[in-house]
Amino acid sequence: MIVTGGSRGIGLAIVRALADSGYHVIAVARRDSAALSSAMREATQTTGGAIHFRPCDLAAISTLPTLIRGLHQEFGPIYGLVNNAGIGASGVLATLPDNELESLIRLNVLSPIMVTKYVVRAMMDSGGSRVVNITSIVGSTGYSGLAAYAATKSALIGFTRSLARELGPLGITVNAVAPGFIETEMTSELKPEHREQICRRSALRRMPNPTDIAAAVLFLFSEAARNMTGTLLTVDAGNTA
Ligand code: NAI
Repeated sequence: MIVTGGSRGIGLAIVRALADSGYHVIAVARRDSAALSSAMREATQTTGGAIHFRPCDLAAISTLPTLIRGLHQEFGPIYGLVNNAGIGASGVLATLPDNELESLIRLNVLSPIMVTKYVVRAMMDSGGSRVVNITSIVGSTGYSGLAAYAATKSALIGFTRSLARELGPLGITVNAVAPGFIETEMTSELKPEHREQICRRSALRRMPNPTDIAAAVLFLFSEAARNMTGTLLTVDAGNTA
């Protein structure tokens, strides 16, 4: 099981939840974190699962085939992939620097597509493997100041639906999870009044946590979700309800 961006935030919560359920998880991110190291120790001590960390800059596209081939050789056939790594870019489109736009599209779109391409080749022949893409509610709804970021998340939704059709005959499911706003490093610049506004506008009057997203991913990896593919699971405390 590979989780990209597994060192913190939503990715780390997914890594923890999968390891707690007994999976062997490979977290890929630029660098290790104290929280990931402690999750690695806990996993070996308390659960049947395990967490491994492999450093990689996922924006370095030309290195991705070698990374995935190496993981396949080291760990064997891959059951699951979670494309979680992503960056945000907020600001009015007209003023976003061109190089920032390029980096955004490279990491949020090109990188997960390339990673998936090479992981699918390394998936189990017996079928039953799973791909989950972490998108966002802004991939389907409008949000001022997030146009370019939203475009990357919509791209992943389109990728999910068509790849589900392509890989269905091989027994591989492909689904997406769309989180609402969640407090992580990505959203650390969110002002308190903005946070309150998001809560007020959500049906449940709160924001979801990284563990809520992890629970949705865990479900999509479970036997109970074997007949779900090409779907988008929204976890936003009713923000878009
Ligand atoms: P975060 O910034 O806390 O964590 C991002 C992770 O991606 C980290 O592990 C980081 O090391 C990794 N990463 C970033 N650039 C990388 C690179 N070049 N190479 C390798 N790894 C890299 O972000 P957060 O909030 O946990 O977001 C995770 C995913 O969830 C992203 O795809 C994001 O777009 C999505 N999301 C987040 C929401 C939020 O409100 N926080 C809402 C909706 C979606």
